[in-house]
Amino acid sequence: MENLISLVNKIQRACTALGDHGEESALPTLWDSLPSIAVVGGQSSGKSSVLESVVGKDFLPRGSGIVTRRPLVLQLHKIDEGREYAEFMHLPRKRLTDFAAVRKEIADETDRETGRSKQISSVPIHLSIYSPNVVNLTLIDLPGLTKVAVEGQPDSIVQDIENMVRSYIEKPNCIILAISPANQDLATSDAIKISREVDPRGERTIGVLTKIDLMDKGTDAVDILEGKSYKLQYPWIGVVNRSQADINKSVDMIAARRREREYFANSQEYRHLAQKMGSEHLGKVLSKHLEGVIRSKIPALQSLISKTIVELETELSRLGKPIATDAGGKLYMIMEICRVFDQIFKEHLDGSRSGGDKI
Ligand code: GDP
Ligand code: NA
Ligand code: MG
Repeated sequence: MENLISLVNKIQRACTALGDHGEESALPTLWDSLPSIAVVGGQSSGKSSVLESVVGKDFLPRGSGIVTRRPLVLQLHKIDEGREYAEFMHLPRKRLTDFAAVRKEIADETDRETGRSKQISSVPIHLSIYSPNVVNLTLIDLPGLTKVAVEGQPDSIVQDIENMVRSYIEKPNCIILAISPANQDLATSDAIKISREVDPRGERTIGVLTKIDLMDKGTDAVDILEGKSYKLQYPWIGVVNRSQADINKSVDMIAARRREREYFANSQEYRHLAQKMGSEHLGKVLSKHLEGVIRSKIPALQSLISKTIVELETELSRLGKPIATDAGGKLYMIMEICRVFDQIFKEHLDGSRSGGDKI
């Protein structure tokens, strides 16, 4: 089943890589229909930190204030062996093995689009990470929701960010990772507010509670984590990410994960929930959940791909032969890719009918 996620990853990449497809083509619809996971929440609630913990690597710019200023579409690819590396879509065939360089490139590429300002842009950065230590997932890091514009930002920024976030999470195939910090009242959570708007019954929202270590003495998050404060279809997951002091001291991810595990296992309040807490558990839940979503969407995806093929054929014949032109060549490639996917989907469906799990 892991391969099914990686198949969808490939379709996603094919759609983006061959991006300039013209308005009329069916590809934008196909892209919108592919399942993904978006991380939403208020500024500095811990979104980027959660993503990093799920990946188990340091590679994202983090900190106070508005750090994430463009959507980051992050595809994780599990490889069998070999050294892990990262690749940006805007730097094709350049394999980065130094993750500090990855972080710098995200910051630089953000600035290229927005200037060194506090402005935001809805143009996504696409990053793939290949590693033996990840689960196959597509995750989207988004700018944090805010209440007021700060110096250097236009007044419209509050609404602009909200609209950008909504454009990702309103897609029915988007799983919403709603991040709320435990040291603020849940009733004021931006993540809960916006996710409730697009997913009122909480059917595709996974609630994550960060900063449990920063709660006031004498208070705890047990009611929230047990689903008694705000009920979602899926259990809440509590995490303890690295603090700013940890980041400044370069506490590594392995040490941070171990400390997080110990935090839940050794605390009086959370011991009974320890198995269902933490970043590692969150990663597994997400992967399993995404698999389920993809499995349930296969028939719809398949018919969409068939439709895409037909539309591309029409578009190609309208462009006329030969198809050596740039636009025609691209469309032709997309169509070929779609044909391959179509075939794989068909085989998978046959496989699951006979009880097998072929891909
Ligand atoms: P984002 O703006 O939502 O992406 O938030 P970041 O991931 O950039 O985190 C904002 C700040 O909060 C950083 O300084 C993090 O170190 C800190 N932080 C995030 N999660 C936790 C947590 O669980 N515990 C502690 N102590 N600090 C955290
Ligand atoms: Na931040
Ligand atoms: Mg961030």
